[in-house]
Amino acid sequence: MTKAVLFVCTGNTCRSVMAEHLMRHYAQEAGLDIDVASAGVGAFSGDEATEHTLTVLAEMGIDASQHRSRRMHPLLLEEFDLILPMTESHRRALLDLLPEREREAAAEKIFLLKEYGKRTGFQGQDLKDEIEKDIQDPFGQSLEVYRRTRDEIAAEVKGIVKEWTVKKEKAMKIVIGSDHAGFQAKQGIVEHLQERGIAVADWGTSEGESCDYPDMAQRVGRAVADGEFTLGILICGTGIGMSIAANKVPGVRAALCGDTFSARMARMHNDSNILCLGGRVTGPGLMRDIVDAYLNAEFEGGRHARRVGKIE
Ligand code: RB5
Repeated sequence: MTKAVLFVCTGNTCRSVMAEHLMRHYAQEAGLDIDVASAGVGAFSGDEATEHTLTVLAEMGIDASQHRSRRMHPLLLEEFDLILPMTESHRRALLDLLPEREREAAAEKIFLLKEYGKRTGFQGQDLKDEIEKDIQDPFGQSLEVYRRTRDEIAAEVKGIVKEWTVKKEKAMKIVIGSDHAGFQAKQGIVEHLQERGIAVADWGTSEGESCDYPDMAQRVGRAVADGEFTLGILICGTGIGMSIAANKVPGVRAALCGDTFSARMARMHNDSNILCLGGRVTGPGLMRDIVDAYLNAEFEGGRHARRVGKIE
């Protein structure tokens, strides 16, 4: 899922800068692939973010020192999927950039940040008390006011990222299989996925049942290659037998991972579609982290798509 989001305020030195950097921050944490930018309807191009903006973002470990303001332009309305102005007057100014006949279509992707955030129900504020739809300009005011603005924007942005994360996870269908040596580990991973609300089909093996890993690898491999599931997980004693066997199925790119970095890279660079794990090698805590890293990462495409194409 790639979305391109543009935040808009007046000068593109305070509110929209906070929103842009906060969304990037939360999206990265959640493993969501979102293109995010900001602009100002009254901006001069090339200004740095205000000092207080940099300070309140730095307090959250976010470095916005490279930001330079950008003036809003009608072409940006075409380029982005979702445009989130801070106030009603910004929204009107955006529509005024367009000829009358184009306004209706554009209005479908322009929402006040607070209105859009409220739809998700994830922003953690009391909706009943919320009458003010604009995010007021903190420009020229104290650091305390900037902190309040940052927190107000953060609540909305975090809610939006959460909504998209839940949607992505709901759309995911995982199939998992093990042999007898991976059975215990598989049980733990199934439980973990269920706790995360991710649909998982458990194809066994059942407790105490000794079986041959190539049979499970072939079954799961075929189902993933046929597109019946988004991704697969295979667990045997070392993960080696499962990965060798699964990789014999055309269309399968099985990756044996014992660390989170490799798991992330397996998705990002290799577009791996089956994660193999060693139940006798990797402990339960690390194994859950590996699964999360794998499921949260997305294929980067581009030059990696060319290389994956050569494998196929
Ligand atoms: C079973 O004893 C074991 O050989 C198998 O689970 C696996 O590690 C194969 O690679």
